[in-house]
Amino acid sequence: MSEVQSIQWFPGHMTRTRRQIEKCLPKVDMVAEIIDARVPVSSRNPVLQQLIRGKPRMILMNKCDMADPAETAKWVCHYKEKGITALEVDCKTGRGVNRFAPAVREVLRDRIAVWESKGMVGRPIRVMVVGIPNVGKSSLINKLCKGIKGKAEVQDRPGVTRENRWFTIGNGLELLDTPGVLWPKFEDKRVGERLAFTGAVKDDILDREHLAARLLECLQNKGYLGKVGERYKLEEAELQELDGFGMLEKIGKKRGFLVRGGEVDLDRTAITVLDEFRGGKIGRISIEQVHE
Ligand code: G4P
Repeated sequence: MSEVQSIQWFPGHMTRTRRQIEKCLPKVDMVAEIIDARVPVSSRNPVLQQLIRGKPRMILMNKCDMADPAETAKWVCHYKEKGITALEVDCKTGRGVNRFAPAVREVLRDRIAVWESKGMVGRPIRVMVVGIPNVGKSSLINKLCKGIKGKAEVQDRPGVTRENRWFTIGNGLELLDTPGVLWPKFEDKRVGERLAFTGAVKDDILDREHLAARLLECLQNKGYLGKVGERYKLEEAELQELDGFGMLEKIGKKRGFLVRGGEVDLDRTAITVLDEFRGGKIGRISIEQVHE
Protein backbone atom coordinates (compact mmCIF):
# COMPACT_ATOMS: atom_id res chain seq x y z
CA MET A 1 0.00 0.00 0.00
CA SER A 2 2.79 2.41 -0.70
CA GLU A 3 0.32 4.46 -2.76
CA VAL A 4 -1.72 5.22 0.34
CA GLN A 5 1.32 6.46 2.16
CA SER A 6 2.35 8.86 -0.52
CA ILE A 7 -0.97 10.63 -1.01
CA GLN A 8 -2.20 13.72 0.72
CA TRP A 9 0.59 13.94 3.24
CA PHE A 10 2.15 17.33 2.82
CA PRO A 11 4.24 18.33 5.82
CA GLY A 12 4.08 21.97 4.65
CA HIS A 13 0.29 21.98 4.97
CA MET A 14 0.49 20.45 8.43
CA THR A 15 2.90 23.16 9.54
CA ARG A 16 0.47 25.81 8.32
CA THR A 17 -2.46 24.16 10.06
CA ARG A 18 -0.46 23.84 13.25
CA ARG A 19 0.25 27.56 13.18
CA GLN A 20 -3.40 28.37 12.50
CA ILE A 21 -4.58 26.17 15.35
CA GLU A 22 -1.96 27.58 17.71
CA LYS A 23 -3.03 31.09 16.81
CA CYS A 24 -6.68 30.36 17.54
CA LEU A 25 -6.17 28.38 20.76
CA PRO A 26 -6.03 31.44 23.04
CA LYS A 27 -9.44 32.51 21.66
CA VAL A 28 -11.22 29.34 22.80
CA ASP A 29 -12.03 27.78 26.16
CA MET A 30 -11.91 24.23 24.97
CA VAL A 31 -11.32 21.90 22.03
CA ALA A 32 -13.82 19.32 20.77
CA GLU A 33 -12.06 16.71 18.71
CA ILE A 34 -14.28 14.78 16.36
CA ILE A 35 -13.10 11.31 15.37
CA ASP A 36 -14.55 8.36 13.46
CA ALA A 37 -15.82 5.76 15.93
CA ARG A 38 -14.89 2.96 13.50
CA VAL A 39 -11.22 4.01 13.45
CA PRO A 40 -10.63 6.02 16.63
CA VAL A 41 -6.84 5.79 16.36
CA SER A 42 -6.31 6.44 12.66
CA SER A 43 -8.81 9.30 12.54
CA ARG A 44 -6.90 11.29 15.17
CA ASN A 45 -3.92 13.41 14.35
CA PRO A 46 -1.32 12.85 17.09
CA VAL A 47 0.14 16.33 16.51
CA LEU A 48 -3.08 17.74 17.87
CA GLN A 49 -2.51 16.22 21.32
CA GLN A 50 0.78 18.09 21.63
CA LEU A 51 -0.75 21.29 20.30
CA ILE A 52 -3.68 21.51 22.65
CA ARG A 53 -1.89 20.35 25.77
CA GLY A 54 -3.34 22.11 28.77
CA LYS A 55 -6.60 23.07 27.03
CA PRO A 56 -9.75 21.36 28.28
CA ARG A 57 -11.03 19.00 25.64
CA MET A 58 -13.61 16.45 24.68
CA ILE A 59 -13.81 13.69 22.10
CA LEU A 60 -16.83 13.19 19.88
CA MET A 61 -16.99 9.65 18.54
CA ASN A 62 -18.91 10.31 15.36
CA LYS A 63 -20.46 7.87 12.88
CA CYS A 64 -21.23 5.63 15.83
CA ASP A 65 -24.27 4.43 13.85
CA MET A 66 -21.80 2.46 11.71
CA ALA A 67 -19.41 1.37 14.48
CA ASP A 68 -19.73 -1.71 16.69
CA PRO A 69 -21.66 -0.39 19.73
CA ALA A 70 -19.83 -2.66 22.17
CA GLU A 71 -16.46 -1.40 20.93
CA THR A 72 -17.54 2.23 21.00
CA ALA A 73 -18.65 1.79 24.62
CA LYS A 74 -15.21 0.36 25.45
CA TRP A 75 -13.52 3.37 23.83
CA VAL A 76 -15.68 5.75 25.86
CA CYS A 77 -14.55 3.96 29.06
CA HIS A 78 -10.96 4.00 27.86
CA TYR A 79 -11.03 7.78 27.40
CA LYS A 80 -12.84 8.23 30.71
CA GLU A 81 -10.03 6.36 32.47
CA LYS A 82 -7.67 8.91 30.93
CA GLY A 83 -9.82 11.73 32.27
CA ILE A 84 -11.26 12.66 28.86
CA THR A 85 -14.99 13.03 28.27
CA ALA A 86 -16.07 11.18 25.12
CA LEU A 87 -19.53 11.28 23.59
CA GLU A 88 -21.03 8.90 21.07
CA VAL A 89 -22.67 10.85 18.29
CA ASP A 90 -24.25 10.29 14.92
CA CYS A 91 -24.15 13.62 13.16
CA LYS A 92 -26.08 12.32 10.19
CA THR A 93 -29.28 11.83 12.16
CA GLY A 94 -28.24 14.03 15.07
CA ARG A 95 -28.40 11.26 17.66
CA GLY A 96 -26.42 12.17 20.78
CA VAL A 97 -25.74 15.72 19.58
CA ASN A 98 -28.04 17.22 22.23
CA ARG A 99 -25.57 16.00 24.85
CA PHE A 100 -22.85 18.23 23.46
CA ALA A 101 -23.69 21.54 25.19
CA PRO A 102 -24.29 19.99 28.65
CA ALA A 103 -21.05 18.01 28.32
CA VAL A 104 -19.10 21.18 27.42
CA ARG A 105 -20.51 22.91 30.51
CA GLU A 106 -19.61 19.91 32.64
CA VAL A 107 -16.00 19.82 31.39
CA LEU A 108 -15.69 23.57 32.04
CA ARG A 109 -17.65 23.55 35.30
CA ASP A 110 -14.84 24.89 37.48
CA ARG A 111 -13.93 27.62 35.01
CA ILE A 112 -17.54 28.69 34.63
CA ALA A 113 -17.80 28.91 38.43
CA VAL A 114 -14.71 31.17 38.49
CA TRP A 115 -16.14 33.39 35.73
CA GLU A 116 -19.42 33.68 37.59
CA SER A 117 -17.64 34.52 40.84
CA LYS A 118 -15.98 37.38 38.95
CA GLY A 119 -19.35 38.61 37.75
CA MET A 120 -18.84 37.32 34.20
CA VAL A 121 -22.29 35.78 34.06
CA GLY A 122 -23.40 34.85 30.55
CA ARG A 123 -19.88 34.96 29.15
CA PRO A 124 -19.99 32.95 25.90
CA ILE A 125 -18.20 29.62 25.90
CA ARG A 126 -15.98 29.21 22.87
CA VAL A 127 -15.16 25.79 21.50
CA MET A 128 -12.85 24.88 18.64
CA VAL A 129 -14.09 21.89 16.63
CA VAL A 130 -11.20 19.97 15.11
CA GLY A 131 -10.99 16.84 13.03
CA ILE A 132 -9.52 15.36 9.88
CA PRO A 133 -11.37 15.83 6.57
CA ASN A 134 -14.62 13.85 6.15
CA VAL A 135 -14.94 12.98 9.81
CA GLY A 136 -18.18 14.95 10.09
CA LYS A 137 -17.31 18.45 11.29
CA SER A 138 -19.76 20.22 8.99
CA SER A 139 -22.48 17.73 9.85
CA LEU A 140 -21.90 18.34 13.57
CA ILE A 141 -21.97 22.11 13.19
CA ASN A 142 -25.12 21.91 11.05
CA LYS A 143 -26.88 19.75 13.62
CA LEU A 144 -25.81 22.01 16.48
CA CYS A 145 -27.03 25.06 14.60
CA LYS A 146 -30.40 23.49 13.86
CA GLY A 147 -33.20 24.98 15.85
CA ILE A 148 -31.25 28.18 16.29
CA LYS A 149 -33.10 31.15 14.88
CA GLY A 150 -32.06 31.72 11.32
CA LYS A 151 -29.36 29.69 9.68
CA ALA A 152 -26.06 28.37 10.94
CA GLU A 153 -24.76 31.75 11.82
CA VAL A 154 -21.37 32.62 10.48
CA GLN A 155 -20.28 35.58 12.50
CA ASP A 156 -18.97 38.72 11.02
CA ARG A 157 -15.82 39.42 12.94
CA PRO A 158 -12.66 41.12 11.77
CA GLY A 159 -10.30 38.63 10.16
CA VAL A 160 -12.96 35.97 9.68
CA THR A 161 -12.24 33.92 6.59
CA ARG A 162 -13.67 30.70 5.22
CA GLU A 163 -11.04 28.89 7.19
CA ASN A 164 -11.76 30.72 10.41
CA ARG A 165 -15.48 30.55 10.89
CA TRP A 166 -17.42 31.14 14.07
CA PHE A 167 -20.93 29.82 14.68
CA THR A 168 -23.32 30.78 17.45
CA ILE A 169 -25.23 27.68 18.46
CA GLY A 170 -27.32 28.89 21.38
CA ASN A 171 -26.94 27.89 25.03
CA GLY A 172 -24.23 30.54 25.20
CA LEU A 173 -21.92 28.46 23.02
CA GLU A 174 -19.85 29.60 20.08
CA LEU A 175 -18.02 27.21 17.78
CA LEU A 176 -14.90 27.75 15.74
CA ASP A 177 -14.54 25.43 12.75
CA THR A 178 -11.09 23.81 12.36
CA PRO A 179 -8.72 26.48 11.19
CA GLY A 180 -6.83 24.93 8.27
CA VAL A 181 -6.94 21.31 7.19
CA LEU A 182 -5.94 18.82 9.83
CA TRP A 183 -4.43 16.03 7.77
CA PRO A 184 -4.34 12.57 9.28
CA LYS A 185 -0.99 11.03 10.12
CA PHE A 186 -0.10 9.02 7.04
CA GLU A 187 3.37 7.87 8.03
CA ASP A 188 1.96 4.67 9.49
CA LYS A 189 0.98 2.46 6.59
CA ARG A 190 -2.01 1.06 8.48
CA VAL A 191 -3.45 4.51 9.08
CA GLY A 192 -3.69 5.24 5.35
CA GLU A 193 -5.18 1.85 4.70
CA ARG A 194 -7.83 2.13 7.40
CA LEU A 195 -8.84 5.60 6.32
CA ALA A 196 -9.15 4.27 2.78
CA PHE A 197 -11.45 1.50 4.09
CA THR A 198 -13.80 4.07 5.57
CA GLY A 199 -13.62 6.31 2.50
CA ALA A 200 -11.97 9.20 4.35
CA VAL A 201 -9.22 8.88 1.75
CA LYS A 202 -10.37 8.73 -1.85
CA ASP A 203 -9.64 5.37 -3.41
CA ASP A 204 -9.65 6.37 -7.06
CA ILE A 205 -5.88 6.34 -7.13
CA LEU A 206 -5.56 3.14 -5.14
CA ASP A 207 -5.72 -0.44 -6.22
CA ARG A 208 -9.34 -1.08 -5.27
CA GLU A 209 -9.16 -4.86 -5.52
CA HIS A 210 -6.19 -4.94 -3.23
CA LEU A 211 -7.91 -2.56 -0.82
CA ALA A 212 -11.14 -4.59 -0.73
CA ALA A 213 -9.14 -7.81 -0.21
CA ARG A 214 -7.28 -6.18 2.68
CA LEU A 215 -10.58 -4.98 4.15
CA LEU A 216 -11.97 -8.50 4.07
CA GLU A 217 -8.82 -9.84 5.74
CA CYS A 218 -9.15 -7.16 8.36
CA LEU A 219 -12.79 -8.13 9.02
CA GLN A 220 -11.63 -11.74 9.27
CA ASN A 221 -8.96 -10.83 11.85
CA LYS A 222 -11.40 -8.76 13.91
CA GLY A 223 -14.05 -11.47 14.07
CA TYR A 224 -16.61 -9.90 11.73
CA LEU A 225 -16.83 -12.68 9.14
CA GLY A 226 -20.25 -13.64 10.48
CA LYS A 227 -21.56 -10.27 9.30
CA VAL A 228 -19.80 -10.64 5.94
CA GLY A 229 -21.33 -14.09 5.53
CA GLU A 230 -24.77 -12.78 6.41
CA ARG A 231 -24.55 -9.93 3.93
CA TYR A 232 -23.35 -12.05 1.01
CA LYS A 233 -25.20 -15.24 1.94
CA LEU A 234 -22.04 -17.27 2.43
CA GLU A 235 -21.01 -19.61 5.20
CA GLU A 236 -18.69 -18.04 7.75
CA ALA A 237 -16.67 -21.27 7.93
CA GLU A 238 -15.96 -21.25 4.20
CA LEU A 239 -14.84 -17.62 4.30
CA GLN A 240 -12.58 -18.39 7.23
CA GLU A 241 -10.50 -20.69 5.04
CA LEU A 242 -9.80 -18.02 2.41
CA ASP A 243 -7.47 -15.09 2.03
CA GLY A 244 -8.71 -11.63 1.01
CA PHE A 245 -8.75 -12.23 -2.72
CA GLY A 246 -10.34 -15.64 -2.21
CA MET A 247 -13.17 -14.01 -0.25
CA LEU A 248 -13.55 -11.30 -2.86
CA GLU A 249 -13.86 -13.92 -5.57
CA LYS A 250 -16.44 -15.89 -3.58
CA ILE A 251 -18.52 -12.78 -3.02
CA GLY A 252 -18.34 -11.80 -6.71
CA LYS A 253 -19.41 -15.26 -7.76
CA LYS A 254 -22.30 -15.26 -5.32
CA ARG A 255 -23.48 -11.87 -6.58
CA GLY A 256 -23.15 -13.04 -10.17
CA PHE A 257 -20.56 -10.42 -11.07
CA LEU A 258 -19.03 -12.32 -13.96
CA VAL A 259 -17.20 -11.20 -17.05
CA ARG A 260 -16.97 -12.96 -20.38
CA GLY A 261 -15.47 -16.39 -19.96
CA GLY A 262 -17.15 -16.85 -16.60
CA GLU A 263 -14.45 -15.16 -14.57
CA VAL A 264 -15.39 -13.04 -11.58
CA ASP A 265 -15.35 -9.28 -12.13
CA LEU A 266 -13.09 -8.49 -9.20
CA ASP A 267 -13.16 -4.74 -9.74
CA ARG A 268 -16.95 -4.59 -9.61
CA THR A 269 -16.93 -6.84 -6.57
CA ALA A 270 -14.32 -4.65 -4.86
CA ILE A 271 -16.39 -1.51 -5.51
CA THR A 272 -19.46 -3.24 -4.07
CA VAL A 273 -17.70 -4.49 -0.94
CA LEU A 274 -16.07 -1.12 -0.25
CA ASP A 275 -19.30 0.81 -0.88
CA GLU A 276 -21.32 -1.51 1.29
CA PHE A 277 -18.81 -1.39 4.10
CA ARG A 278 -18.69 2.42 3.93
CA GLY A 279 -22.45 2.62 3.90
CA GLY A 280 -22.69 0.42 7.00
CA LYS A 281 -24.51 -2.29 5.03
CA ILE A 282 -22.23 -5.10 6.16
CA GLY A 283 -23.10 -4.18 9.71
CA ARG A 284 -21.83 -2.09 12.56
CA ILE A 285 -18.10 -2.68 12.54
CA SER A 286 -15.13 -1.19 14.37
CA ILE A 287 -11.82 -1.62 12.61
CA GLU A 288 -9.85 -0.34 15.59
CA GLN A 289 -10.60 -1.77 18.97
CA VAL A 290 -9.29 -0.76 22.38
CA HIS A 291 -7.63 -4.08 23.06
CA GLU A 292 -5.77 -4.91 19.88
P1 G4P B 1 -16.16 17.19 7.31
O1 G4P B 1 -16.87 18.50 7.46
O2 G4P B 1 -15.42 16.80 8.55
O3 G4P B 1 -15.27 17.11 6.10
O4 G4P B 1 -17.26 16.03 7.13
P2 G4P B 1 -18.78 16.13 6.67
O5 G4P B 1 -19.63 16.70 7.74
O6 G4P B 1 -18.85 16.78 5.32
O7 G4P B 1 -19.14 14.58 6.56
C1 G4P B 1 -18.51 13.72 5.61
C2 G4P B 1 -19.48 12.61 5.22
O8 G4P B 1 -19.78 11.81 6.37
C3 G4P B 1 -20.83 13.10 4.70
O9 G4P B 1 -21.29 12.15 3.75
C4 G4P B 1 -21.72 13.02 5.93
O10 G4P B 1 -23.09 12.89 5.60
C5 G4P B 1 -21.20 11.75 6.57
N1 G4P B 1 -21.44 11.70 8.02
C6 G4P B 1 -21.11 12.65 8.94
N2 G4P B 1 -21.45 12.25 10.18
C7 G4P B 1 -22.00 11.02 10.04
C8 G4P B 1 -22.52 10.06 10.98
O11 G4P B 1 -22.53 10.24 12.21
N3 G4P B 1 -22.99 8.89 10.46
C9 G4P B 1 -22.97 8.63 9.13
N4 G4P B 1 -23.45 7.45 8.72
N5 G4P B 1 -22.46 9.49 8.23
C10 G4P B 1 -21.99 10.67 8.68
P3 G4P B 1 -21.22 12.39 2.22
O12 G4P B 1 -21.49 11.11 1.55
O13 G4P B 1 -19.94 13.10 1.89
O14 G4P B 1 -22.36 13.39 1.97
P4 G4P B 1 -23.93 13.17 2.21
O15 G4P B 1 -24.20 11.70 2.36
O16 G4P B 1 -24.26 13.93 3.45
O17 G4P B 1 -24.52 13.77 1.00
